[in-house]
Amino acid sequence: MRLVVVGCGYVGLVSGACLAELGHDVVCVDTDAARIEALNAGAVPIFEPGLEQMVGRMLHAGRLSFASAIPQLGNDIDAVFIAVGTPPSKNGFGADLTYVYAVAREIADRAGQKLLVVTKSTVPVGTGDMIERIIRERRPDLDLHVASNPEFLREGSALRDFMEPDRIVLGCNLAAPLKTLQAIYDPITRFGVPILATDRKAAELIKYAANAFLAVKITFINEIADLCEAIGTDVNDVANGVGLDRRIGRAFLQAGPGYGGSCFPKDTAALIATAQDWAVNLRLVETTIATNEARKRSMARRVISAMGGNVFGKTVAILGLTFKPNTDDMRDAPSIGLVSALQHAGAKIKVYDPEGMEHARTMLAGVDYAINAYDCAEHADCIVVMTEWEEFASLNAAQLADLVRTRLVVDMRNALDPEQLRAAGFTVSAIGRPA
Ligand code: NAD
Ligand code: UGA
Repeated sequence: MRLVVVGCGYVGLVSGACLAELGHDVVCVDTDAARIEALNAGAVPIFEPGLEQMVGRMLHAGRLSFASAIPQLGNDIDAVFIAVGTPPSKNGFGADLTYVYAVAREIADRAGQKLLVVTKSTVPVGTGDMIERIIRERRPDLDLHVASNPEFLREGSALRDFMEPDRIVLGCNLAAPLKTLQAIYDPITRFGVPILATDRKAAELIKYAANAFLAVKITFINEIADLCEAIGTDVNDVANGVGLDRRIGRAFLQAGPGYGGSCFPKDTAALIATAQDWAVNLRLVETTIATNEARKRSMARRVISAMGGNVFGKTVAILGLTFKPNTDDMRDAPSIGLVSALQHAGAKIKVYDPEGMEHARTMLAGVDYAINAYDCAEHADCIVVMTEWEEFASLNAAQLADLVRTRLVVDMRNALDPEQLRAAGFTVSAIGRPA
């Protein structure tokens, strides 16, 4: 099938490459001309495991191409996917749909006689209606369908999440466009992945409800972690025991410094905005947002108190900056608030991240950038692990002990082996674990 994907960020690029891998002919469009030039040369501007290789393969196979403007959308185009950003709105309330609506207008101006528009961006309930209205106003003659097809991939495992999803949600009630969408995903669904066909509004809401539920789950285990620390037991054991109940599941019960990233914080806030528009209270989600924000803020206090209550002039080595491992994405990463709070308290900050350093340089002022984890730990008064990159788990505790000024580790992700660290003379403060 012939597809156009508008937006070449994490979602657009992964979706475009994967749809090509499934056998379709895909043109990916982005207004960022430098990004398009790089992509056409096979250089992928984001770090996502396996993506550069897949893009290279698909370019070579001739099934994927990149353009800096939406091409003329002839009747041979089976679907146009919208995958541009929906950041928090500037007035701080709900999602900013400027990019989505701009794309809708551009699509209308380039369409032939018929068109299926598919929203992959995360958009509030009713956005599909608005897209339809915008396009119809400009092109009343057009045989138009607008469907919602929310994306559930995670950064760091995006290719697998796209190719082997738990479900594909298609918000589209009409037989003809639904058939096209089913055909697009047939190479995935023929192996048993369920398709859920719903109306458009349900599909839009499913995406926000899923993200909000995951945010609630993480926040719940974080609070249980606090209780474990007070009691003197291990949150991992509790999470294992709770998670073995198939009604609950072990996933997303990893205690940490609070969730971050470009999606949970913005999507939970946007869901609240939608609920308020409909005069409905989502108190559980509101509490989750507030609890998570307070938790992220409290992490600096945790470090300061582990360091004896005063960090003025002391050096804190932070291992891991990205909001999760296997990505270079720093958007809304818990490390950002921690760095600035510790700087405010007078600490000197040294940082290292396997993939996030380039973005960190544009976001963190006044920190020293190390070339690896050992370099970061040198002369530090405390090592803080903020992201559970695999390479940190295999750090040599004895080597670290020789490098640091003070043998103290605050492990916000339970990524290091506390026994090995203690054997090397470290004091360890870990989330939800006995001191
Ligand atoms: P992103 O910011 O990484 O990328 C968005 C891209 O759209 C940018 O490259 C931008 O230049 C481009 N763009 C903006 N206006 C454009 C226009 N008029 N024409 C063409 N391109 C344009 O965003 P993202 O992280 O890929 O997220 C996109 C959407 O998908 C959001 O709604 C997000 O909530 C949702 N989502 C994201 C993830 C994720 O893991 N990042 C997962 C699921 C859903
Ligand atoms: C999340 C969802 O998992 C995806 O399904 C969704 O498509 C995406 O948001 C989106 O809508 O953009 P992502 O933000 O890429 O994906 O990464 P997650 O693995 O969900 O992690 C988000 C945050 O939660 C990270 O800061 C992570 O460290 C934290 N987290 C996650 C925990 O603290 N504990 C856990 O058990 C899981």
